[in-house]
Amino acid sequence: MPLTVRTYREGDERGIVELLKVCFSDFNRWGLTVDDWISYEEGDYGYRRENALVAELDGRIVGHLHIVFRKVYLGVSKVDICGIANVATHPEFRGRGIASSLMRKAIDICRERGLSLASLLTGYGSEGYRVYRKVGFSNTAFLNTYVGAYDSVVKLLEDWGRQELDVEEIDERNIDSVMQLHDTWGRTLNLAVWRPREYWVSKILRKFFMYSFFYDKPEASIRLLFKDSSRPVGYSLAFDGSSATRSYFPKDTGVVLEAVATDVHYLKVVIKETLRRLASRGAKIFRLYLPAGTYAGLSKYFEEFKGAFLMDYVIDLKGLLDSMAAELSGRAKYVDGQTSVTVKSPFGCADLYISSSEVRISAECSEENTIEFTQDGLVRVIYGISSLSEMLDPNYVKRIDMSTKAVETMSTVFHKKAVYIPRIDQW
Ligand SMILES: CC(C)(COP(=O)(O)OP(=O)(O)OC[C@H]1O[C@@H](n2cnc3c(N)ncnc32)[C@H](O)[C@@H]1OP(=O)(O)O)[C@@H](O)C(=O)NCCC(=O)NCCS
Repeated sequence: MPLTVRTYREGDERGIVELLKVCFSDFNRWGLTVDDWISYEEGDYGYRRENALVAELDGRIVGHLHIVFRKVYLGVSKVDICGIANVATHPEFRGRGIASSLMRKAIDICRERGLSLASLLTGYGSEGYRVYRKVGFSNTAFLNTYVGAYDSVVKLLEDWGRQELDVEEIDERNIDSVMQLHDTWGRTLNLAVWRPREYWVSKILRKFFMYSFFYDKPEASIRLLFKDSSRPVGYSLAFDGSSATRSYFPKDTGVVLEAVATDVHYLKVVIKETLRRLASRGAKIFRLYLPAGTYAGLSKYFEEFKGAFLMDYVIDLKGLLDSMAAELSGRAKYVDGQTSVTVKSPFGCADLYISSSEVRISAECSEENTIEFTQDGLVRVIYGISSLSEMLDPNYVKRIDMSTKAVETMSTVFHKKAVYIPRIDQW
């Protein structure tokens, strides 16, 4: 019988779970069950078992991927994207184009559902990376991890002084304050994931997810809300490997998954107190999945490692830019007069009409003031990973045929911004 690529049917879950355990050592170690796989639907607006794709050969599931929908912040705009997760082909059937077929089918499904962007996380240069690159995904960026041992934490605790804040455990009574802090913070970033209340309650309070597919008992977590004179000013989410009941992070590891505050002084208190509690629970190695660069000056104490590699496929460029209209129009407030720019790329073409009152997009592609990006360049400029001037390199920009004013306007509207996907929501 020929290979069929199709969407999930009731009864597939056993074959999918078996395949995931064969293909991913972390699912195997953690002991993924069919009940886990089905329970991912609880409180997660983006996860539905119907959105699994399988490759079937002679009645056996030999390949799989899952489309996980996420609503992400691109500044103040919230954009629906297609997350591609858990791509797997049974070892006996690799190298026959199964994963590539699943990926192409996933992109078709995302397009049919009106989504403008597919995004995934992988290991740079891994088996998966090669497949995604061939299918046409961009090299976007690495996510960051800070790693340090106990002595790094001792030094940080000494240096960061005595300032303290009132601390509460996060629960259903104060979750709205945490959600408010998260939403304000999300708008300052690109790719933080929007979370409705039921998501917070199911995935962070009732269970504790360290990643979209791995969770443990809440007792293994540290979830803190920080207040200054009863005003919520920060929160943190962390995981204590030594209290884990299922094997995911090593036992001696304390993991900071999120640390958020309204300003950098509060942020230091949030991080300090979270690390102090992890250390007092016996953590010896510390991993902090926090934004790269200048986040509270953490790189003075911890080594920064390149972690998961982000790759993207723009399905509908006009649709994507349209969904960012609120953010782009906000940035255009200070531009002079009106400018039209044509953006070309292997993912398609769009015209932008930029004035101080709005940014409008059309699919016309008039080639008036044109900038032609490579697939990597287009995604990097949209996410603000590099500024336009940093990308004047043939790996990113193939051709610029724009007036000086158009270059200035584009640089204003597409400026640099921190890209960060909290680990809890990663797919
Ligand atoms: C990554 C993974 C899913 C790839 O699955 P796959 O079905 O072997 O992938 P494909 O067959 O589509 O592509 C693999 C290679 O076969 C080649 N190929 C594609 N069609 C082919 C065909 N008809 N005949 C022979 N080779 C083919 C591809 O071009 C690719 O070649 P390359 O490695 O030189 O780039 C698989 O290795 C796997 O399950 N790994 C473990 C889990 C994992 O790491 N998943 C990714 C997580 S992000």
